[in-house]
Amino acid sequence: MSNLVEPERIVPWMEKRAVYPGFFDPITNGHVDIILRGLRLFDKIIVAVLKNPKKEALFSTKDRVAMIQEIFIRQPAVEVRAFDGLLVDFARRHKTRIVIRGLRAVSDFEYELQMALMNRQLDPEIEILYMMPSVHYSFLNSGVVKEVFSLGGSVKGLVPEIVEKMLRKKMKSGRLSVGKSPQ
Ligand code: PNS
Repeated sequence: MSNLVEPERIVPWMEKRAVYPGFFDPITNGHVDIILRGLRLFDKIIVAVLKNPKKEALFSTKDRVAMIQEIFIRQPAVEVRAFDGLLVDFARRHKTRIVIRGLRAVSDFEYELQMALMNRQLDPEIEILYMMPSVHYSFLNSGVVKEVFSLGGSVKGLVPEIVEKMLRKKMKSGRLSVGKSPQ
């Protein structure tokens, strides 16, 4: 008899899952690219959206979570959760020791190294896995998207459609303005 585990006997803790944390204000196609790459390696990716009252966000936590849920609505292997507190505690609560992060360029390295080593200090069992996004997104971050959009530039192809729609809504409500930024 084979000693392989039958699918119906696979219990959730045996699922290969990883956490993908970030601020996602808003999510970009660079983030989406990393999630899709993560899905090649893991059965489940838990996108952990930081609720950070210290950092000013354009979008509320609820909106940041909702946009990601909408993007992956047909992908049950992607779960989206808001979190606060330590990332290592969130990972443990969600029964994984693996954290995925994207690494775009050398300029990301110092911050990421510090974060990885701090997380390892907090929990030696946590492993952080770095993935390179497609070269098309290596210049992209949420800040650049907000700046370009607020100055009237196109972000087509850089963010999912729902994000463009939400940026337009923000613009209409006056939270983002086109033209010159205030002096
Ligand atoms: O999108 P970001 O801003 O690069 O994401 C940073 C994030 C959310 C991954 C990081 O700030 C984080 O993990 N915050 C939770 C608090 C924590 O665990 N801090 C200790 C490790 S540095």
